[in-house]
Amino acid sequence: MSDTDTALGAPAERREGREKVTGTARYAAEHTVPGRVHAWPVTAAIACGAVSAIDTTEALRSAGVITVLTHENAPRLADADDPTLAVLQNSRVPHRGWPIALVVAETLEAARAGAAAVRVEYEAQDHDVTLTDSHPGAYAPEEANGGYPGHRERGAPEGAFASAAVRVDAAYRVPPLHNHPMEPHAATAQWDGHRLVVHDSSQGATAVRATLAALFRLPEDQVTVVAEHVGGGFGSKGTARPHVVLAAMAARRTGRPVTVVLPRRFLPALVGHRAPTLHRVRLGADEQGSLTALLHEVTTHTSRIKEFVEQAAVPARVMYASPHSRTAHRVVPLDVPSPSWMRAPGEAPGMFALESAMDELAVALGTDPVELRIANEPDTEPDSGKPFSSRHLVGCLREGARRFGWAHRDPHPGPHSSGPLLVGSGVAAAVYPVLIQPSTATARALPNGNFTVRVNATDIGTGARTVLAQVAADALGVPLDRVRTEIGNSDLPSASLAGGSSGTASWGWAVHEACTRLRARLAERSGPLPEPGLTASADTAGTADADSDYARHAFGAHFAEVAVDTVTGEVRVRRLLGVYAAGHILNSRTARSQFIGGMTMGLGMALTEGSTMDAAFGDFTESDLAAYHVPVHADVPAVEAHWIDEDDPHLNPMGSKGIGEIGIVGTAAAIGNAVHHATGVRYRELPLTPDRVLTGLPSFMAR
Ligand code: MOS
Repeated sequence: MSDTDTALGAPAERREGREKVTGTARYAAEHTVPGRVHAWPVTAAIACGAVSAIDTTEALRSAGVITVLTHENAPRLADADDPTLAVLQNSRVPHRGWPIALVVAETLEAARAGAAAVRVEYEAQDHDVTLTDSHPGAYAPEEANGGYPGHRERGAPEGAFASAAVRVDAAYRVPPLHNHPMEPHAATAQWDGHRLVVHDSSQGATAVRATLAALFRLPEDQVTVVAEHVGGGFGSKGTARPHVVLAAMAARRTGRPVTVVLPRRFLPALVGHRAPTLHRVRLGADEQGSLTALLHEVTTHTSRIKEFVEQAAVPARVMYASPHSRTAHRVVPLDVPSPSWMRAPGEAPGMFALESAMDELAVALGTDPVELRIANEPDTEPDSGKPFSSRHLVGCLREGARRFGWAHRDPHPGPHSSGPLLVGSGVAAAVYPVLIQPSTATARALPNGNFTVRVNATDIGTGARTVLAQVAADALGVPLDRVRTEIGNSDLPSASLAGGSSGTASWGWAVHEACTRLRARLAERSGPLPEPGLTASADTAGTADADSDYARHAFGAHFAEVAVDTVTGEVRVRRLLGVYAAGHILNSRTARSQFIGGMTMGLGMALTEGSTMDAAFGDFTESDLAAYHVPVHADVPAVEAHWIDEDDPHLNPMGSKGIGEIGIVGTAAAIGNAVHHATGVRYRELPLTPDRVLTGLPSFMAR
């Protein structure tokens, strides 16, 4: 192990990589405690109304079935902060797919068969699941997700837009999207007297512990939540989900350890989704291409039980200088499943709209879209007036243009050939805020010269375990192989969730502080350490979460090359290239993986991923991976991620910004802009599936 491998930024290999590829890493459903049984939920088959009768007689006679929980007999929970967790507490059905019973059985198969034998009668009411711009139920929310004000306005945007020399006024639509992590949501729960132990597939075991303790009226130290290995989450495991509550209820009732694995088809209704967004973007500019008015207005949906507002107009508050601006959200409560976080909530759909509109403006002005963005760089954050802690968007655009070969691009929209394959390229910018949460950590020096770092971080496939060891080794000044990290258990020092691209900065800050203290203490003493070694701890509450005088965001630029088949309507991405400015990159191997993972998800958002609400049935139509198309290997071409290292003293001791989400931001716009460059046709609704593309092509092109 050389010093270079220890250094922050080095491409250290994932510490659990061998366990994962050999199949010995155990996930939440794989903790096979003796006596463990299985449970299968029964979910509502109406979109609105109530359960009027539920007959479990036949299910209880079914082989292997132990019990059936319903709202009539399930353990009573304390009032939940999150209404999506108040399962089996009353007869109300707020949306199709809501859990109305849970069958517990000796085997998974028996539980499933038992669930099929439960007879349910409903009092159905008319449902409304259709989002429109003019929906009478729309209202302006106080706040959007992330705590952002729902509405912001500067200057006189309407008047400035009306009098602008060059105008773009365009509507964009992003459909509902589903997180679909590789590992479905799963939990194994076990009661030991009054102690509850849960293995949960979660992005944050500290928060799940707090939620379960509250729901089951327990002190937090009587609950342990383990999330050792997690097969992805993309936000859908960012808070406790109903499966873990159901598992804990069933385990309490039966006295047996219970595993609940949500079948893939249950995920869209139960774990949150990216809400559909209807955008109106208006950009006004002078003849030279300086923005004079920027209006981004978004309408989205939420469920009847929880207000979640996709903050899609928020990135427009950060991106471009404009003296007049309005960024506003409206939300419509519908009889739909509750939306929640999905990778870059707000930024991902918002930047599809804004960055598509910027491309439209570039076309209207006859300006290069890279240069248009550079010309509208703000001196300070437009909405807050705060200085940026660092902002290298221009550097990302220039570096990306150079690497991509942008200079060779035909500046005019296509078609550039007579088909049937039309080739084009596009660009879009990316942004993601710097979010940091307080965390705690301990670092221990052992008498044998090794170190143990403990923090309840979660590694959802990102490499958190590995990068935290790098942070520790760097702060301690020791080789990486002398540091062991313990994460993924709520009995460890409490820490924030793996969400908001905040994990490494938040946990790393606490680890860095604990290790720095330990190093100072070790320097003060001589001679061998006594057992059990020397420990230092850190708690960054009040420090990491202090308000900053700076606007702090990561930036990036995405470049895409596509080929559009005018016969089939198929869009193939040929090249995707991203350049990011996200502070110091702490592990070049795992960071690259995060960036290209985000870009791949953006490619899916652009071309294949989309969910539709069936107005008659009242549910998402695409509820499995056969119908909801995530990109497969053959869809993903050469994807390149590069970065510009930033020296930003206003972030955290490691100087890092988050990288987990920015890869998806703007990617779909870059691809859509490339499709416009290839065809001359502007598609404003995602995804760009062959049917949609063919419908939009002028008849002389489609053949
Ligand atoms: Mo991410 S959507 O903040 O887990």
